[in-house]
Amino acid sequence: MTASSSFFRSSVGKKFIVAITGVVLIGFVVGHLLGNLQIFLGQDWVNSYAEHLRQLGPVLWIIRAFLLLNVLLHIFYTISLALENRRARPVSYKRKEHVKATFASRSMALSGLIVLAFILYHLAHFTARVTDPRFLLLKADPLNRYDVYSMMVYGFQNYFVSGFYVLGMFLLALHLSHGTSSFFQSLGLNDKKLTPRLATGGRIFAWLIFIGYSSIPVAVLLHLVKPAQQL
Ligand code: HEM
Repeated sequence: MTASSSFFRSSVGKKFIVAITGVVLIGFVVGHLLGNLQIFLGQDWVNSYAEHLRQLGPVLWIIRAFLLLNVLLHIFYTISLALENRRARPVSYKRKEHVKATFASRSMALSGLIVLAFILYHLAHFTARVTDPRFLLLKADPLNRYDVYSMMVYGFQNYFVSGFYVLGMFLLALHLSHGTSSFFQSLGLNDKKLTPRLATGGRIFAWLIFIGYSSIPVAVLLHLVKPAQQL
């Protein structure tokens, strides 16, 4: 066994991969949020942003494949670590006071799974566009681009769809609020003063992500953002 392969089989190595892939995915979540918030700037901003992404062509597919690889590694190594912990500790602790487990930390597997289900639905909704027949009726925008702006607005006019998005993003924030503090621990940072501060910073970051994303369906339902074309 080479030194590098034994590193990736050790629990330190696995935690490292979960942490690094988590950071890549957080990078996507922040970038995607900034892209989506352009809905508040109007149709032209969102549609030209979407068009630029599409013009990346093969590069876009490389980015997608890289993201997918990160999602798969993140899940694979999390499961592997969980199984390892269970094997090392077949009888669960009766008394857990020494571990400060928050609700977020106890629900990491569940929040992660529901976020995954949300992403699959979201891809069917806005990328494959197979869940809402109205999207087929949308005309191109004045610059002959696909009208992603109006698609988002029509998509979120449905209370159930918007409700599911807000739920998905609530669980994403819960997942991130614990994930960010685990990240620093996985990198070996354990300082009496700094660690709790970083954990608080991570929680604030996670809930800002939640507010940012949720503001979009909420603004549509409040008619603060209206479609640019009528169906
Ligand atoms: C209000 C919330 C959100 C809105 C309005 C939104 C909007 C969109 C839109 C419009 C697309 C399709 C872009 C196009 O084909 O031109 C898209 C794709 C995507 N979204 Fe979201 N999104 C939201 C939340 C999220 C969240 C929370 C995640 C992940 C945690 C996510 C992950 C993705 C992924 C992976 C894609 C596919 C990207 C690609 O392959 O091109 N989205 N989103």
